[in-house]
Parts: sequence; C-alpha cells; structure tokens
Amino acid sequence: MTTTKTITLRRPDDWHVHLRDGAVMKAVLPWTAQLYGRAIVMPNLKPPITTVTAAEAYRERILAELPAENKTFTPLMTCYLTDNLEPSEIKLGKEKGVFSAAKLYPAGATTNSEHGVTDIQNIYPVLEMMQEVDLPLLIHGEVVDPAIDIFDREAVFIERVLQPLLRDFPELRIVSEHITTSAAVDFISAQSDRVGATITTHHLMINRNAIFKGGIRPHMYCLPIAKREEHRLALRRAATSGDSHFFLGTDTAPHLTPLKENACGCAGIFNSPNTMECLAQVFEEEGALDHLEGFASVHGARFYGLPLNEDRITLEKIPPDLPSEVLVPELGEAIQVFTPPEPMSWRLK
Ligand code: DOR
Ligand code: ZN
Repeated sequence: MTTTKTITLRRPDDWHVHLRDGAVMKAVLPWTAQLYGRAIVMPNLKPPITTVTAAEAYRERILAELPAENKTFTPLMTCYLTDNLEPSEIKLGKEKGVFSAAKLYPAGATTNSEHGVTDIQNIYPVLEMMQEVDLPLLIHGEVVDPAIDIFDREAVFIERVLQPLLRDFPELRIVSEHITTSAAVDFISAQSDRVGATITTHHLMINRNAIFKGGIRPHMYCLPIAKREEHRLALRRAATSGDSHFFLGTDTAPHLTPLKENACGCAGIFNSPNTMECLAQVFEEEGALDHLEGFASVHGARFYGLPLNEDRITLEKIPPDLPSEVLVPELGEAIQVFTPPEPMSWRLK
C-alpha cells in the first residue's frame, strides 16, 4: 500500500493582499479568508484609504462579507501615504489599533498610485512619527523616473531611496514589498531584523519570458514586472533558505478579465485560489519543504510582533482541482486565476 505524502504546517498569513471592495471583494475574499489567519490589506482603493475613519469603515465592510465558516480571519489595515498626510493621523491609527502599517506608493508606480508620494522628502515628518510609534513602513520599491528601464526600477530604487531612508530613520521598521531582483535579495538579507521583504508566489514561478510566451500574456503582467530567470532563482533561494527576512506576501491583485485583456491592461496577478499549492511545489522542487512553514506562517508574524497562528493546515501530494477563474456574479464578469507554468502536484486537505 502506498501512502500519500503530506505536510502539516501552522496556518499561514498573507502579508500583502488586495481585497478590493464591493462586488469584487465579495468574490475574492473567501479565497483569502478560508486559508489565512491574517492578511495585511492594501489601501489602494479608489479613493485610497488615507484616514483612520476610512480604514475602520473598510475593515467593517470586509468583516461583514466574511463567509460564516471563516469568521476568525483577521484583516490588518494599512494607511496609504500621500504628500499631505498629517503625522497625527498615523499616531491616531496606531493608538486606536486600526493601522498595522502604512504603505508607500511612489506616485505613478502602479495601480491606483496616483495619490501616492511624489518625493520622499514630503513624508519625512510622517516617517518620523512612524518611527516614534513603531508603525512599519511597507514600500512599493520602484522608481517612477521614465528614463529608468522598467526592469531596472527596483534596483535603482534601492540606491536612490531605500538606502538613504534606512540611514535617515535608523529605528523605522521597513518591509520591501514583492521583491523581484537578486539586488533586492542581497540588500535585504544584509540588513538587521528591522527590515524584511515579502515575496509573491508568481515571482517564484515565472520569469519575464512568461509575459511574452507565444504572444502577449496580460495575465502574467504585474508590477514590479517579472524579471530575468537569474532573478527568479535568487528569489527562490531567498524564500526557501529559512532566512527570516523573507516572508509570504502574495500580492494577489484581482482585475476583471476585460480590464486585463485590454489595449492597456491592468497590472496584477490573482493568485489567492492556488498560492499554497504553488508554494508547496516550489519548496519541494528546492528540497526545502521544511522551510515552508517559516516562510508562510512564522517569519511575517515575528516581524509584525504578532503571535503565531495555533491551528494547522495540511497539504497532500495529490494533483489539485483548482479553478481557472473566479466569477463576480454581480458584475457578470470573471477574474482569471494565475496559471502556474507546470502541472500542480499538491492540494490542500
Ligand atoms: O501588479 C500589481 N497590481 N502591482 C501593484 O503594485 C498593485 C496591484 C494592484 O493593485 O492591482
Ligand atoms: Zn500589491
């Protein structure tokens, strides 16, 4: 008799998720809520979440939509930093336990970032306050200078913005979100434990060729854009190494199919329906299944100073039955799920 291979780990958390709002939130939220204990919810709505009141209201809308069987899921709210945000709003959000972090979008870097920060100097008073009250700064780390090639924007951001920031704010805790380059891996792993980085599932599985395989593939387009193979391999080494600087942030970013399959398709890959299956595959391929729990369920919680989830999930080595799209019934549209480049061999029990 053959026995099925299984792995059991602490319930994971997703340290970077786009839950959206309204009908789309209703459709995508169950995929996050049924698997993760907690998730850091991105604030790039229209309009963005820039106040404590807006974050509280958004949290209420999320909680109200939680499926009956997933009521223990905890959304952790973030504040969208703008040039004009008052430091007092940060202080209030921290004191009230509403903000778990604040997000820096360089203006124009990505989806709904037009209200973001135009010059890092503009938010120095806010960063002073974040450092004082110990609220982590989450960074979309790409420069927006059109003179810089899109594939180089992350590496240039490290030099031009991140390094000076770490110097000027020696106590500020920082997460470099969804890193995509070996430059970022090397830089982050050399920092103290006040600095961390999230890594997405898709950046562990695809390189930039996937965006152009046999034609243009809008569902493989996200920001930061996937890079060369050598960078994907560096990310895989970092994620599977057991180094606690690195933790899971899926950056699952749903857009309706017509907005992706478009002359100007939106950036974002929707991966929440198959992230754990993908991760099990990646970690097994790297011979590092024993480091999966650290990456998905431990390092992030430690960074945020939160207790580890106490319940467990189990994956079994049986090909999964996963959806290729998720319907948004109220809008009569669907959202394409990330298609891994190879057949999946693990499923959630
Ligand atoms: O691909 C992305 N999509 N990258 C981001 O930074 C934002 C996200 C979104 O909100 O769609
Ligand atoms: Zn994101």
